[in-house]
Amino acid sequence: MGRRYPRWLDTAVFYEIYPQSFHDTNGDGIGDIPGITQKLDYIRELGCNALWLNPCFASPFGDAGYDVSDYYSVAPRYGTNEDLKTLFREAHGRGMRVLLDLVPGHTSWEHPWFRESLKPEANPYTDRYVWTDSVWEEPQGMGSLRGLSDRDGSCAVNFFSSQPALNYGFARCEKSWQQPVDAPGPRATLRAMKDVMRFWLDMGCDGFRVDMAFSLVKNDEGHRAVMALWREVRAELDEYYPQAVLVSEWGNPREAIAGGFHIDFLLHFGASHYNDLFRCQAPWFSARGGGSLDAFIRYYRDSLEATKDQGFICIPSGNHDMERLARTLSPEEMKLAFAFLLSMPGVPFLYYGDEIGMRYLEGLVSVEGGYHRTGSRSPMQWDGTPNAGFSAANPDKLYIPIDPDPMRPTVAAQQGEATSLWRTVQALIRLRKANGALQSRGEIEFLQTDCPLVYRRSGAGQRILVLINPGQEPYSAAGFRGKLLYAIGGKVDMEGDRCHVDGGTAAFVLED
Ligand code: NOJ
Ligand code: CA
Repeated sequence: MGRRYPRWLDTAVFYEIYPQSFHDTNGDGIGDIPGITQKLDYIRELGCNALWLNPCFASPFGDAGYDVSDYYSVAPRYGTNEDLKTLFREAHGRGMRVLLDLVPGHTSWEHPWFRESLKPEANPYTDRYVWTDSVWEEPQGMGSLRGLSDRDGSCAVNFFSSQPALNYGFARCEKSWQQPVDAPGPRATLRAMKDVMRFWLDMGCDGFRVDMAFSLVKNDEGHRAVMALWREVRAELDEYYPQAVLVSEWGNPREAIAGGFHIDFLLHFGASHYNDLFRCQAPWFSARGGGSLDAFIRYYRDSLEATKDQGFICIPSGNHDMERLARTLSPEEMKLAFAFLLSMPGVPFLYYGDEIGMRYLEGLVSVEGGYHRTGSRSPMQWDGTPNAGFSAANPDKLYIPIDPDPMRPTVAAQQGEATSLWRTVQALIRLRKANGALQSRGEIEFLQTDCPLVYRRSGAGQRILVLINPGQEPYSAAGFRGKLLYAIGGKVDMEGDRCHVDGGTAAFVLED
């Protein structure tokens, strides 16, 4: 890797936790931080060695906590700062890392900064947000808040109306109220956000997943100014917190990695064609798929090339914003999807519950700004006890209802079944850990990009061929000389240099 970076990323496998829905220890129906701490051994047993927690800070929860009202305090519903400190300590004791979710682009409209900024009299927070200088003028291309107070101006919002946009300046200023990135207001905002980062890093967190990282600077063609901003942050991390990691919600690794991030997520919309694989009518990983992976692979390969030795790409199994894999893939198909997700270069992220194939719950009433996303945020299904072992609360007090299907998957059931999805995910993570070629830095060469997909990972003196055949047809290929390390699904036979696989299989072959 050309650039300095924390070595723990070479073998990291992340587990994303939506804290509301993971494990409730005090019976109020909402998951909490002590609940996460109690489940660290579970996560470790699965094989993950790092966590990303969705925002757990004080908030009115208009957007599930992505509307922060105090960056320095854990939301009381989740516990205390001390509880979070305990989680960091317990995780570190097990060789695990914890990333928090930093939301630098906007606050809640209840944040004291915004309350001050609403005042017509000038004060230190007047320029903390993006304001026009007349209530009759709205910022273009962004929603806005107007008429909330006697301040004569409209304030830009970044997402929902309750999320006013913090002011990091404009790369190109066209109006009198647009401030350059190096003006005092924007610089003060960045300083305030660096203070927040230092506070949690000093308390023991290992870095941040950064919400809408690309969005901070406005009128920023090619994202050049926002990349410079994050490079500045990264330089300080490298100096003072060299083990800390920045992961971006950007969806353009070429920009994000050049902008100083260690890892960038491929997003479930836009250029990456990520949804062609998992979440469309006939996803590639389903038996009914069959289409070509070319568009995705072209984008992925280009991104990989552009970021080589500089940072990592992440292809997440899911997240709190997208529909769960189980909506479009069967359990057998999900095993093949995981064979892919857990053998790609870069750093894998699993969304809680995906390891047992939790369902997307259709038709739920929105909870805390979730809207259609609510169906992917239901409580973790631990076992066959009431509320699936998530909480001792009355079922009608749960944050989001449990999957009502009596056949819903649980951790307890799947741990006891040799070929369950849970066991498969665990085995795939073990395989990755045991073989350097499959880890973050190993190279990848795509040998066949229709069905089956065939690629070679190499590194640490090894070469491993991965063949994934989600289609219904058996397949027989030459050139597979070596030892079968692991297989999923139907029959896989090695004969001389030929590999015969049934439909619905994946095979990992260590080449001679
Ligand atoms: C992306 C987050 O993942 C999403 O949940 C949130 O609603 C928006 N950013 C706004 O912060
Ligand atoms: Ca609780």
